[in-house]
Amino acid sequence: MTATLTTAPVPAKTRLEPTRIASDTYLVHDHHGEGTAPVIVPLNTMVIRSAEPIVVDTGMAENRDLFLADVFSLVEPEDLRWVFVSHDDVDHTGNLSALMEAAPNAVAIVNWFMAERMGASLGVSPLRQRWVGDDEVIDVGDRKLHTVRPPIFDAPTTRGLFDPTTGVYWASDSFATPMLHVARDVAELEAEFWAEGMTTFNQYVSPWLALTDDRKFQATVDRVEALGACTVAGCHTPVIGRTHVDAAISTTRRSPTATVAPQPDQGVLEQIQRALTPD
Ligand SMILES: [Fe+2]
Ligand SMILES: [Fe+2]
Repeated sequence: MTATLTTAPVPAKTRLEPTRIASDTYLVHDHHGEGTAPVIVPLNTMVIRSAEPIVVDTGMAENRDLFLADVFSLVEPEDLRWVFVSHDDVDHTGNLSALMEAAPNAVAIVNWFMAERMGASLGVSPLRQRWVGDDEVIDVGDRKLHTVRPPIFDAPTTRGLFDPTTGVYWASDSFATPMLHVARDVAELEAEFWAEGMTTFNQYVSPWLALTDDRKFQATVDRVEALGACTVAGCHTPVIGRTHVDAAISTTRRSPTATVAPQPDQGVLEQIQRALTPD
């Protein structure tokens, strides 16, 4: 039998148009798990229409058509100058090569270890790469963006990105949370669910939290807090606006010692399989 006879159709995804989160700054949305998994995980990308426009992370390959349409609704392909990759995970690099192919003047901002770890799968010529590590500056014409590693991360290559002109900080995998329904802003999430979701994801993303010297970990949170960001965006969170930044920081501070639920197991997979199988 063919797959189409044995597999129920995947439920339609809620479509979110890009969200303007600050002056000339937009989130391009995607998410995973809607209609099949117990929770939904956001998968965002950021676009800054600076004098030299920059795309921050590149989403999942499975969402390529919508991703490219959304990005190019905000910036013309030939105007795109920079593609910043926060780290080399598939949900951040999924459309990198497609974007570079469509945007002939773009340079990919990666780093040595990313190029080393990805090898040929990076799909970008060294002639179109720039290597930027943590605590460096990227001049995009009308502003200077600052790379700041977030406190929670799951790849050694990770750098976040702070725009001092808008106060927006891109936190990569930090401040991640699941959602029970598709949301643009964490204000739409129930506060207790958000706090529990973030501590859970923080421990899943960075299991080494349990091994860290807490003073050293808190210093990494201090560094991000000291930016004074008024908006925090990330790949796996609805936008965190001014009224919720402090809560995101304090929840992260508490994460190493929080008790969280175990990761989804075979039972959850079977639940997903039932959702995908016709009666
Ligand atoms: Fe990651
Ligand atoms: Fe991620």
